[in-house]
Parts: sequence; structure tokens; C-alpha cells
Amino acid sequence: MGKIILTGDRPTGRLHLGHYVGSLKRRVELQNSGEFEKILIMIADAQALTDNFDNPEKIRQNIIEVALDYLSVGLDPAKSTLFVQSQISELCELTFFYMNLVTLARLERNPTVKAEIQLRNFENSIPTGFVCYPISQAADITAFKATTVPVGEDQLPMIEQTREIVRKFNSIYSDVLVEPDALLPTNQVCMRLPGTDGKAKMSKSLGNCIYLSDTEDEVKKKVMSMYTDPLHVQVSDPGHLEGNTVFTYLDAFCKDEHFEAYLPDYKNLDELKEHYTRGGLGDVKIKKFLNNVLQEELNPIRAKRKEFEQDIAGVYEILRKGSEDARAIASQTLSEVKAAMQINYFEDEALIKAHIEKYKA
Ligand code: TRP
Repeated sequence: MGKIILTGDRPTGRLHLGHYVGSLKRRVELQNSGEFEKILIMIADAQALTDNFDNPEKIRQNIIEVALDYLSVGLDPAKSTLFVQSQISELCELTFFYMNLVTLARLERNPTVKAEIQLRNFENSIPTGFVCYPISQAADITAFKATTVPVGEDQLPMIEQTREIVRKFNSIYSDVLVEPDALLPTNQVCMRLPGTDGKAKMSKSLGNCIYLSDTEDEVKKKVMSMYTDPLHVQVSDPGHLEGNTVFTYLDAFCKDEHFEAYLPDYKNLDELKEHYTRGGLGDVKIKKFLNNVLQEELNPIRAKRKEFEQDIAGVYEILRKGSEDARAIASQTLSEVKAAMQINYFEDEALIKAHIEKYKA
């Protein structure tokens, strides 16, 4: 059997550079590698509602934004199925059956859920739907018999929980579900791109993101005000690389060719770093360079987004068609799940026959 990819994002905002280096770029490479039988990319609106249930408008407005971001980076509906989670009602049915296989204690031990509960100040009013979202995520993955789930490190506990559910289901009922593997980013810098303020992670609430849909001017402004090295006051001062956001971004984005094009005094990033740490290299110069590097990466993405923005109805149609295709697959798996659980009564001729015999005469 061929390999199948399923992954997705919560539509709580536009996607940013952190998403891009951490997952989107890789997805496009995987899509174009030809190694996968099927690739499904899901906009996880139902999961987003588990902690935004009182703000459906936010989720509703962001489906199209995420779809535009997907298309603009090169996810191609001819090669990947792009779909919306809530439109696949089979996922809810699977979630309901899997709930029997997971204890509450196990859910509460999930490190990602634990961290998120703290972050959201749920304290004693945790919505049940929220604690259960790892189960629904297991449904997302298994509904498509995904073998491969490209995700960030923070999602590893979800994949582990999915694997446990699969093993339990297969051992109690029968071998229907497929145990997935996580596929992590290969590049350390790409695992967690910091925000422009140097904080651990890009996050909308911290206002430290560079969005894929930012204009050239917005990107430039954000780069020029980026956090660098607070000890590097004078140009002549020796600079530090650790925690220096500009260099972290250069590590993630810059290639030797960029020096030839924008900063020919240096051959590569090592030379630039060497000069910076020695002293005599100003922040403005490295920021201008980073701006050029980022604009080169973002220009084609921006241009493609503009094209799709001219055909919003077409983008909705891509999602509608994708959801229809995804639903057909999930529905097949759900039938197999129900048969394995022996709750397919009306197709179970042996059962009906046995009961006829039982009540004969
Ligand atoms: N939890 C993921 C996130 O927050 C989104 C998601 C939902 C997902 N279902 C998934 C990712 C299934 C991979 C597979 O980013």
C-alpha cells in the first residue's frame, strides 16, 4: 500500500513565516516528490472551535485566508486534497467511538493539552471538547489511513495518542486502522522560528509575526525593527549571534547566492557572522540584507496569492470539491470501523438470520 499524508492547521489567523519554514515549504516538497499516493491537507476548523466556540466568526473569516495561504505557497489542488474538517461528519462519528478507548487521565496527561490549558487560563472550566481534541485528531488521521503526518514537534503527543488508539482499536476489534508516523522538520532552525521580537515563537497575540500575505513595506518595516543584540550598541562593538533574531532568520532563509546578489562583500553567512562577532558591522546592514532575502522568498508567494484573490469563488470551490473527495475516503473507513465493531446490523445477514432462528417456533 502507498504512503498517505494527512496534516492540517487551525484557521485562527493568516499563516506566517513560522508556518512556512516549519511546515508549508516541506509540504510542497512532499507534494511534488511523487512519493505519496495521496496527500490531504485539512483546515481544522472544528478543532479551532474547541477553544474558540464563542467566536465562530473568527474561524469563518479565516478559512479563506488559510486556503489562500496554502495555494500561494504552491499547494496544488490537482495533487493535494485541500478540505475543511467540519464538512466531514464521519470524523465526529469516529471520534465518538474512539472516546471509549481513551481514559480521561490519559487525556489530561497529554503534554500539549496540558500546556494549552495553562496558556488559555481554562483552569477549572475546561470545555470537554477541548480535552478531547487529541481524540478528534486521531480521527482526522485514521479516517484517511494516513501513514505520514508532517507536523511540528509540539504535535508529537497527538501522534503518540493516535498510535495508542490505533493499537487498541485493532487489538479489540480488528485490523482496520493504520498506525501513523510523525514527520518532523529536518532543520533545527525551522523547528521553531522566533518572532520578530526575539520571543520563542511567532504568535498572533504577541504581534511578532511576519505573515505570508504581508506587503513588501510591512515586511520591510518588521525586519528593520527586529530584535538583534542589545549589547551591540555601536557599530564597532562586537555583536552576539545567540538569540539574535536577524541571524536566526538568516540561518533559516539565506543561501550563498543571496550574498552574490545583495551583499557581495561576503561569500557566505559564516563570513558575515565572523565580521559581526568581531565588531564593525552594523545592524542596519544585516537587516537590509535579511529584508532582501525575505522579499525574494515572499515575492512569488505574494504574486500567486494576488492571482487567487481574483477568484475567491474558485477557491471556495476547491475546498468544496476537496471536502467531497475527503468525505468519500472517510466514509469508507467509517464503514470498515463499524463493521469491525459489529454495529453494521443491517448489512449483517448472519446476525439477522441467527435472530430469525432464535425466534422461530
Ligand atoms: N493540532 C494541529 C495544530 O494545532 C492541527 C491539526 C488538526 C492536525 N488535526 C490534525 C495536524 C491532524 C495534523 C494531523 O496545528
